[in-house]
Amino acid sequence: MTPLIELKNITYQAQNRRILDIPEFQIQEGEFLGIMGPNGAGKSTLLKLLAFLDRPSCGDILYQGAAVTQGDVPLELRRKFSIALQQSLLLDGTVFYNIAIGLTLRKVPKQVIKEKVSHWLELFGISHLAKKNALYLSGGEAQRVNLARAMIVEPEILFLDEPFSALDFPTKIKLMEDFKQIISETNTTAVFVSHDLMEVHYLTNRLAIIVSGEVQQSGPTPRVLEYPNSSTQSFLNEWKKFYPIAR
Ligand SMILES: Nc1ncnc2c1ncn2[C@@H]1O[C@H](COP(=O)(O)OP(=O)(O)OP(=O)(O)O)[C@@H](O)[C@H]1O
Ligand SMILES: [Mg+2]
Repeated sequence: MTPLIELKNITYQAQNRRILDIPEFQIQEGEFLGIMGPNGAGKSTLLKLLAFLDRPSCGDILYQGAAVTQGDVPLELRRKFSIALQQSLLLDGTVFYNIAIGLTLRKVPKQVIKEKVSHWLELFGISHLAKKNALYLSGGEAQRVNLARAMIVEPEILFLDEPFSALDFPTKIKLMEDFKQIISETNTTAVFVSHDLMEVHYLTNRLAIIVSGEVQQSGPTPRVLEYPNSSTQSFLNEWKKFYPIAR
């Protein structure tokens, strides 16, 4: 199957330092792909390249098998993707306004917007917040709005960069449960950056471990976590002391 996104011989350099060196990397349709690694490994940089938000120093990025000319990414391609970051970056306005924004920009008719926003408010369990100003939400509420805002445009790929990292444990668990179900029911392709083993174990079905700008191991998530290779074991085994992966 042709991958949705493919990187070929990518390097990313900044301030005379090589930050990423990735000979090949793919996003397949329908997968929930995790990208895990320690702080500074290059995860967010990789995510930005995959989402065409930044361009590599060298190499090609392909969308459905065709190379995309860097620096000239068409709006229609950008609009296939949604991104949710650790900081929810909501705008000063109601929750309804924030969730509607992607559809408003796409000039979707008002009645359709109303119906879709209601639908996504309900799925994320935040209908009661619709009229509240988004700047006064708790961290957990704001992250629900952030994810609903990303999902309402029905992205072909949803990119997530540590969206749960700032949440307290019970809030995180409840939101991850709801989110996992929504992703599975909508069959959305998702790419999820995290340094947290529990999150990637629970959510993802394929996992790439990145250390020092290189993909050191990738494969089905349970297999990678259970059988780290010589390059990933020191990172993964630290985690597994606190979050043992049962055999
Ligand atoms: N534009 C840039 N200029 C200079 N250095 C950069 C630039 N972008 C990224 N870096 C460096 O590249 C490395 C990887 O950064 P990146 O943000 O991708 O890491 P990360 O894996 O997402 O880390 P974290 O877990 O802390 O979010 C870091 O050392 C960072 O300082
Ligand atoms: Mg990061």
